[in-house]
Amino acid sequence: MTALSPLTDPQERPILAFEDVSRLFRVRRGFFAERNSLAAVNRVSLRLDRGECLGLVGESGCGKSTLGRLACGLLTPSSGRVLFDGRPLPEAGAGSWAAGRIQMIFQDPSSSLNPRMRVGASVAEPLTAGPGLSEAGAQDSHEDRAEAMLTAVGLAGAGRRYPHEFSGGQRQRIAVARALVTRPDVVVCDEPVSSLDASVQAQTLNLLREVQERFGPAYLFISHDMSVVGFMCERILVMYLGRIVEEAERDTLFASPAHPYSQALLAAAPSGLWKKEFPPLPDGEPPSPLAPPPGCPFHPRCPKATEQCRRDVPEWKEISSAQRARCHCL
Ligand SMILES: Nc1ncnc2c1ncn2[C@@H]1O[C@H](COP(=O)(O)OP(=O)(O)OP(=O)(O)O)[C@@H](O)[C@H]1O
Ligand SMILES: [Mg+2]
Repeated sequence: MTALSPLTDPQERPILAFEDVSRLFRVRRGFFAERNSLAAVNRVSLRLDRGECLGLVGESGCGKSTLGRLACGLLTPSSGRVLFDGRPLPEAGAGSWAAGRIQMIFQDPSSSLNPRMRVGASVAEPLTAGPGLSEAGAQDSHEDRAEAMLTAVGLAGAGRRYPHEFSGGQRQRIAVARALVTRPDVVVCDEPVSSLDASVQAQTLNLLREVQERFGPAYLFISHDMSVVGFMCERILVMYLGRIVEEAERDTLFASPAHPYSQALLAAAPSGLWKKEFPPLPDGEPPSPLAPPPGCPFHPRCPKATEQCRRDVPEWKEISSAQRARCHCL
């Protein structure tokens, strides 16, 4: 069991940590409208330990991908710090000391594969990114390392072929090989199975688990689907409108979710593994991050909301060493 420890826990340094991170976007609705700030990620603190699989779950638009992009340096925080291996994470790019040590797998495998490049060259490409790459296998050529990783994902000999010769599931395997080829410390998986047929989803999740066991990276695993994060992750963060509202070990979360939003997500999840008596989400879209409600962001949809919920943002409440949540009703 992974104990939930505060960010300041001196015992072991997390491989990745967020310290009070926010990310704002300036947006305007319509050409003449004024620009407004939208907090896609709002004061998030988290830690990812070496080799663990940390889940991030929440509805569309709650800020999961923005958090994932902050975690690999594709976006910089508006405030707060992202630390990788104890040092401030530099912006992603070739030559950065962290290049290749954090990799990403996206929902659409085609987005990371150049259709005109042979698969072997695409898989080898991240090896040219920077100096921070692991020594493991470094004596082999890039081509050999790409081929070895393609073999590890069950696609021996695929390197000479082109992406269009493969199915969606196979292309996601290639994306996994490309992410793992640098032997990264962290892989951010952003909805890695959401675009795949149901029959291929389970195979792909099993592959991700297999390669994690074999090569040891930590995963930040993003999904809107509770059953997918429940299958993959030992520890889960529940995100709502830019904020983390619950953090818990998987078994605790599934047995007794604390936050009414987590309860609603579990009530909606398509599996019979957990209690179903929780009230579901009311119909309709979540509030816009452009005009977030005051107080608890969930209060307009919460069956338990009180006057205090409409007024004050809830602080964290420790329920046990395995669970904490931000809800006035706890
Ligand atoms: N580059 C950007 N400029 C302006 N607004 C943005 C930008 N990127 C994201 N947003 C907004 O930030 C909020 C969070 O978006 P994000 O893509 O992180 O959510 P998500 O949880 O990944 O959603 P989904 O499940 O649909 O992928 C949304 O309101 C989105 O419109
Ligand atoms: Mg997203």
